Amino acid sequence: MINKNIINIIIKKKNKGELTYDEIKYTVDNFIGGEVKDYQMSSLLMAIVLNGMTDEETFNLTKIMLDSGDKLDLSNINGIKVDKHSTGGVGDKTTLVVAPLVAACGVPIAKMSGRGLGYTGGTIDKLESISGFNTSITEEEFIKEVNDIGIALVSQTGNLVPADKKIYALRDVTGTTESIPLIASSIMSKKLASGADKIVLDVKVGKGAFMKNITDARKLSKTMISIGKKFNKEIVALITNMNYPLGYTIGNALEVKEAIDTLNGNGEERFTKLCLTLASYMVSLGKGISLEDSLDMVVEKLNNKEGLKKFFELIKAQGGDVNNIEIANKKIALKSKNNGYITDIDVIKLAKFANSLGAGRNKKDDIINHKVGIILNKKVNDEVRIDDTLLYVVCDNDIDIDKLYDAFTISNKNIEEVKIVYDIIK
Ligand code: URA
Repeated sequence: MINKNIINIIIKKKNKGELTYDEIKYTVDNFIGGEVKDYQMSSLLMAIVLNGMTDEETFNLTKIMLDSGDKLDLSNINGIKVDKHSTGGVGDKTTLVVAPLVAACGVPIAKMSGRGLGYTGGTIDKLESISGFNTSITEEEFIKEVNDIGIALVSQTGNLVPADKKIYALRDVTGTTESIPLIASSIMSKKLASGADKIVLDVKVGKGAFMKNITDARKLSKTMISIGKKFNKEIVALITNMNYPLGYTIGNALEVKEAIDTLNGNGEERFTKLCLTLASYMVSLGKGISLEDSLDMVVEKLNNKEGLKKFFELIKAQGGDVNNIEIANKKIALKSKNNGYITDIDVIKLAKFANSLGAGRNKKDDIINHKVGIILNKKVNDEVRIDDTLLYVVCDNDIDIDKLYDAFTISNKNIEEVKIVYDIIK
């Protein structure tokens, strides 16, 4: 018998029961329709956070969310389409570097990206800091652009996974984001709806990520890979370090400029390595060649600036003016008060500060200030002397930035080498 009573469904999950396909479908459909109220859905989401879901429940939730809206058909684009998705980080401008490099290698990139929420940034917000850049082109224009220049980066077109939109917004304000089945079904429903043949997942782990330890990051990766397999999608997950800011900037326009620097060969070392690794897995999947050959190809596209050229081509095709990326005009330096080595940088403190300037959203309808942010002048394991600049805050007004000093731990001895990629799961 189908349980068509939301209260009974909530109680079943509260008592650690396994929900059937029909019970999940009833809940999701009626939540979209408005019969299941926000407070009832929040209660069920919290029960899921606390008691989990079986693999079968997670798969069913993904499929029901995927079927809640349109699916993109990329069959009019030649070649194997490979998508990439990051589970979300601070200063994560990886897509802006990886996508043009992979496209320059001849693997078509038809990518839909999201906006930032909470302390995580979003690719679409970053692209919109380029004057004129249009992130909401039609589906026909999107496909034509990929066929013409090999790459398009857009915000979600059409009515893709409306269930996730509504559930994610509720999770964000009810403390129910950090759950493996909820994250896996949210990400995978969107990736499956956006039509790529193969997917590389950048599963972030650490203080600035949803997953705080490697065990959970592996579990999330395996859950997403097994969902993908059931839909015949080949998926590789890279588990990567999000304990520290990625690269040296946080904030939209600043991150676009850093992406350009990186494609110009002047990127921060760990960030560049992450981009090259992600890009080579994508090229290997897209071209069916070895990882070694893919890495050689990606490095060549970085060194000969074809990745940079492709990024400029993309910006032009979507109406952007690369010479018009506005940065706020105040640059306030934070100086070191100690001698020693930087052994930690509190990534969340920096992200929250950048958000307080307007670089990110705390609520879905907050307006972003693309021009502001943080430029790190030192990274973990760098030696610093008193009065060395640790970072610059880029902002519109004179503000007191002294409290940011607490984000730095400066010790007598440096720490062991900071890894950027911890593990690869297939
Ligand atoms: N990214 C998503 O798209 N969904 C989540 O639940 C978490 C990260």
